[in-house]
Amino acid sequence: MKVTVVGAGAVGASCAEYIAIKNFASEVVLLDIKEGYAEGKAMDLMQTASLNGFDTKITGTTGDYSKTAGSDIAVITSGIPRKPGMTREELIGINAGIVKTVSSSLIEHSPNTIIIVVSNPMDTMTYLVHKTTNLPKNRIIGMGGALDSARFKYRLAEALGAPISDVDGMVIGGHSDKGMVPLTRLATRNSVPVSEYISDERLEQVAADTKVGGATLTGLLGTSAWYAPGAAVSGLVQAIACDQKKIFPCSTLLEGEYGLNDLCIGAPVVLGSNGIEKIVEINLSDAEKAKLAESAEGVKKTNGLLEL
Ligand code: NAI
Repeated sequence: MKVTVVGAGAVGASCAEYIAIKNFASEVVLLDIKEGYAEGKAMDLMQTASLNGFDTKITGTTGDYSKTAGSDIAVITSGIPRKPGMTREELIGINAGIVKTVSSSLIEHSPNTIIIVVSNPMDTMTYLVHKTTNLPKNRIIGMGGALDSARFKYRLAEALGAPISDVDGMVIGGHSDKGMVPLTRLATRNSVPVSEYISDERLEQVAADTKVGGATLTGLLGTSAWYAPGAAVSGLVQAIACDQKKIFPCSTLLEGEYGLNDLCIGAPVVLGSNGIEKIVEINLSDAEKAKLAESAEGVKKTNGLLEL
């Protein structure tokens, strides 16, 4: 199992580290345009192998896509992250150019690869990969909902005073502060709806804190987060590499599901060796459907900024 990660920055390197620590991939190639950067990150990570007990071989390259040839999975994290006060949508100009070039170079050397898009605005970048490559939709996956759901669970556990492993919850919709739809009605603590434990007001606060989860960290760090994004990507990569058939909310091309068409947006999907093996349609309440429709409008507005 060969995995390429384009962009050896904060998220790319964190993702490579988690993939290696989980020890399921034989090879991870880091690629960056900054001279020597990917090589340096790869060497530093390899020097943790004996300490962390993994056998994954991590290599780095400055822009040589021949080194990525034959990748089963390719992750795109190249591009600029947001600074405090910025929205993800403001990154579109620079990142669209990068994502378009990177995806075509990846496919040239790995025609059978599955692509995971991380660069922001992620739903629009995922749509861009659909529009500019010939890859079937099951092989184009946007990572956002897995991270947002992890942040939701963190906030739920905090509100409930419960261990995180006891809570479950999912965030669907667009990967933006306004567009996320935390499914509070379906969130549970040990299979019991969380509304049995906390007030509606507290639950609404959990949802609100989840939606600004990325912005909160950007304010604290001065740039966007990397540990949880990297861990979330590694979870998707592992589900595909190990054919786990796990369900994650991922950005995927919708063709009628949830009444939506011609956009990529977060919905629960089954991930296995073929990438997105099924889009799961859960029964949403009218209020949730309305929130998802509004989120889709926002994503489509950003898609409209693409020069296709
Ligand atoms: P970073 O600035 O630390 O790393 C980005 C790397 O991409 C840099 O090392 C840069 O040299 C490289 N790069 C730029 N153009 C390139 C090209 N054409 N080819 C190869 N490499 C190139 O940024 P960070 O924090 O790692 O974030 C990366 C992206 O991921 C940003 O767009 C950020 O907004 C996004 N992100 C998305 C998340 C999600 O949930 N979807 C979560 C966190 C970040």
